[in-house]
Amino acid sequence: MIILKLGGSVITRKEATEPTLEPVNLDRIAREIARAKPDKLIIIHGAGSFGHLHARKYEIGSPIHTKGELQEKRMGFALTQNSVKDLNHSVCHYLLEYGIPALAVPPSSFIITHNKRIKSANLEIIEKYLEMGLVPVLHGDVVPDTQKSIQMAVVSGDQLVNYLSLQLKPERIILGSDVDGIYDRDPKKHTHAQLLEVVKSLEDLQFLEGAQTVDVTGGMAGKLKELLELAGKGIESELINAGCEGLLERTLKGEKVRGTLISK
Ligand SMILES: Nc1ncnc2c1ncn2[C@@H]1O[C@H](COP(=O)(O)OP(=O)(O)O)[C@@H](O)[C@H]1O
Ligand SMILES: [Mg+2]
Repeated sequence: MIILKLGGSVITRKEATEPTLEPVNLDRIAREIARAKPDKLIIIHGAGSFGHLHARKYEIGSPIHTKGELQEKRMGFALTQNSVKDLNHSVCHYLLEYGIPALAVPPSSFIITHNKRIKSANLEIIEKYLEMGLVPVLHGDVVPDTQKSIQMAVVSGDQLVNYLSLQLKPERIILGSDVDGIYDRDPKKHTHAQLLEVVKSLEDLQFLEGAQTVDVTGGMAGKLKELLELAGKGIESELINAGCEGLLERTLKGEKVRGTLISK
């Protein structure tokens, strides 16, 4: 089994002021997955501009003090879910176009967090779909939270990668983002940033404070923390550039490509 995460930065225009798809990338990525024909596959995609605009506007995950705030956040929760569902629909649509039996599995319908960390999720349905030869497609989403003060949370695609990988023990975990891998500092801000072939700790990076983007779930820093937690438990993952033609297909086929290995 392979768990593949598609970054919101690749399949959406993340900096856009309204939810905007990146259809050229999405079409190519679906084609590459179809060509590689992985045996058992779970796809998790980020929410990109379909999620963070709403989540930020309504401050999903921040403390609720009054009834009025609760009312507003409740509406925001539903609007965010509706928006990421739109993106998920498009992702599944492109996959289906290339003959991949993609099946939407929205986290908001089966995951509960406590203090923003996944506390319970019934993965039986995902295992069943895999057995049936279907490709479950999950995504960054909003979920109910049992911490009374917040009541709702955003669960990132990266946290889903962490949780599902621990539970389902896939042979490979591949994350496709819009950069060639993890660098010693943000490659978009520093022209001399060095690509790291292997990352074993946050200390491998020079400037972690630079690892923030418009991403409400922590950008590269948030991603790396999830992956290092996995690595600490002996589960390796690979980060590659899914915005670069052919890399995803080659890595899915088992070829070694440019990227970063996150390991113990
Ligand atoms: N040290 C770093 N190495 C790689 N990318 C970094 C680093 N620090 C910050 N970034 C930024 O993180 C972004 C990827 O994170 P994010 O936007 O959350 O991607 P995704 O949508 O794949 O989750 C890159 O576009 C890059 O600008
Ligand atoms: Mg991200």
